[in-house]
Amino acid sequence: MDTFIIQGGNQLNGSVKISGSKNASLPMMAACVLTEEDVILNNVPDLRDIRTMKEILKFLGVTVEQKDTHTVSLNASKLNKNEAPYDLVRKMRASVCLLGPLLARTGSTRISMPGGCVIGPRPVDLHLKGIKGLGASVSIEHGYIKTEGKLYGADIFLGGRFGSSVTATANVLMAACLAKGVTYIESAAQEPEIIALAKMLVKMGAQVEGAGSHVITVKGVQKLHGCEIDVIPDRIETGTFMMAAAATGGKVALINADAKHIRAVTDKLLETGLSLKISSDSIEVERDKPITSADIITLPFPGFPTDLQAQMMALMTNGGGLSVITEKVYPERFMHISELNRMGADIKLETATAIVKGVKKLSGASVMASDLRASAGLVIAGLIAEGETQILRVYHIDRGYEKIEEKLALIGADIKRGKEIEHV
Ligand code: UD1
Repeated sequence: MDTFIIQGGNQLNGSVKISGSKNASLPMMAACVLTEEDVILNNVPDLRDIRTMKEILKFLGVTVEQKDTHTVSLNASKLNKNEAPYDLVRKMRASVCLLGPLLARTGSTRISMPGGCVIGPRPVDLHLKGIKGLGASVSIEHGYIKTEGKLYGADIFLGGRFGSSVTATANVLMAACLAKGVTYIESAAQEPEIIALAKMLVKMGAQVEGAGSHVITVKGVQKLHGCEIDVIPDRIETGTFMMAAAATGGKVALINADAKHIRAVTDKLLETGLSLKISSDSIEVERDKPITSADIITLPFPGFPTDLQAQMMALMTNGGGLSVITEKVYPERFMHISELNRMGADIKLETATAIVKGVKKLSGASVMASDLRASAGLVIAGLIAEGETQILRVYHIDRGYEKIEEKLALIGADIKRGKEIEHV
């Protein structure tokens, strides 16, 4: 298995090109099954979750053509299955976003229930509620979600215990495009990835209004056509590099970044004393003095993203004070704390709140990546730690970051990919 070996202490300086958004690409790829025509997506990141989605689409009979590293052409005219088996779904929970579009296209689906997850329970009740609301029958049988029926426009409330759901909103939005009548999705997720998906659907001939607000209105149409569209920049990768630069010091320009998608993050980083220069498609980050602590509460968009909580925590281990980090989206998403503490951090967990006491320095250690974003937090910790840090199980990070070690090395980090030595 691959590992990262990091020699900490280097400042980061230079520029980094931000890749296309993983979380926008996945539902946009799923949307290809809504039409028999070609869907061409540009700026798709080259990473493991995207390869898994391609594998599932191929299994369904979709023709997948990789035009170049970041352009993929999808054609679902020969779609010949309506099911996604456990073997494929277990690799990536986001495969559940095929539920809505597949049902709308074929009238029935059989999709494996996604299993448990290291960041806490991840129910799919809102997905099922939305699909039922559109008139389909839904049952769970032998670990599979079975849906069947014609879809009709309806008024659907998608708010849950932890607020709105991104992929449930995507599912209902895609299904509603081909439903008969008008659908109102209330308490819809407002994430930029939902706006991007809605833009794509409109390009395909769908009638969607209100994406980005709490209520999305969809007037069903009989047919959608193909389209070509660019994927938006990855706001989580952008935030991760901002925090890496904030942690190490130096001056880093993030090219192809959209600051409008991470206002809650830029706002917090300014509070810690970082300087930011923002233009329409880039962000320049400069740290010329020690950063201060900051309190964070993760929330659905436009709040501080849960997907940047671990990275912010790694930054705050050095924050020169006390930071209180509260997780309101996934209250159990704190696997990284014990690993950060092994590196000398001082973090205490009180239910869903972490109290981070800034320490003078972290020290390099062997640590274990537990999930995608937690691993990014460990990379940031490794960059500022004294000595060598070895991060095991970096396949987690490869799910969602395109060549992170190469991008970091280009701006001055001492980070290398290696192989884990098996002890028998
Ligand atoms: C998406 C992102 C993920 C991010 C998350 C929250 C993708 C592919 N993934 O995941 O990176 O961490 O948003 O920003 O876009 N919930 C329910 N019932 C449901 C669905 C969700 O209770 O049916 C809860 C979840 O457990 C969680 C909260 O709602 O507490 C938000 O989850 P959700 O927005 O659905 O996350 P995903 O769409 O799976």
